[in-house]
Amino acid sequence: MSSLPEAPEKRAAVKSMFDRIAPRYDTLNRMLTLGLDQHWRRKSLDAAGVKAGDVVLDIACGTGDLSEQCAARGARVIGTDFAREMLRGASRRGIAADFVQGDAERLPIPDSSIDVVTCGFALRNFGSLDTAFSEIGRVLRPGGRISLLDVDRPGSRLVAAVHSFHFDRIVPFVGGLMSDRQAYRYLPESTVYLPEANEMRAMLEKHGLVEVEQRRFLFGTAQLWLGRKGDA
Ligand SMILES: C[S@@+](CC[C@H](N)C(=O)[O-])C[C@H]1O[C@@H](n2cnc3c(N)ncnc32)[C@H](O)[C@@H]1O
Repeated sequence: MSSLPEAPEKRAAVKSMFDRIAPRYDTLNRMLTLGLDQHWRRKSLDAAGVKAGDVVLDIACGTGDLSEQCAARGARVIGTDFAREMLRGASRRGIAADFVQGDAERLPIPDSSIDVVTCGFALRNFGSLDTAFSEIGRVLRPGGRISLLDVDRPGSRLVAAVHSFHFDRIVPFVGGLMSDRQAYRYLPESTVYLPEANEMRAMLEKHGLVEVEQRRFLFGTAQLWLGRKGDA
């Protein structure tokens, strides 16, 4: 049986789910991906050229993994998330960043003030991706960049079968033992919320992003969206 919430209640369901799983979130991420999650975060920041002096907005920052890596590069980081317990986890880590509670679909950030918007593994959780992308377009300064990372489903049937065993069986099983079964069933199932690449690209372009590019990691098990805000 699916554990995916219907659109009207998705926002509240996602928020309370992340508040519940926050205490074990980092440990389970590292265990279930064997540390690959941090490797992909690093690659996503390399690809977007995040560097000292950049003003970075890490949307849906959770417990601050991407914020921490951006701060370590000397960027000035603002992390925002709507789940209070995830943000509490971020604040406890002593990361050199400002953490602010806020919704990715109504960012508490002025227009054209951000050099790089980062997002790790959260796109599929948004109630409306279109609204979140419109907010990203609004807060980026002209020339500002995006680095949006999420999971994906591999194309090759053989890889897909191995990946599905891990993602759809092991993840909910181990997540259920150590944290919250329903949440760790939702996390793999929620990939269906992610649109096809063409639709994703069109949505980003509609909100002023140019040179939009998708990169895929490890046989297509993760995807990264790059681009920059046009000058017009
Ligand atoms: C899978 S976690 C990813 C956290 C972090 N970015 C990382 O790389 O580990 C997804 C995060 O998205 C947040 N989130 C989902 N929808 C959101 C929204 N509309 N506004 C703000 N945060 C949201 C959740 O609270 C959660 O912390």
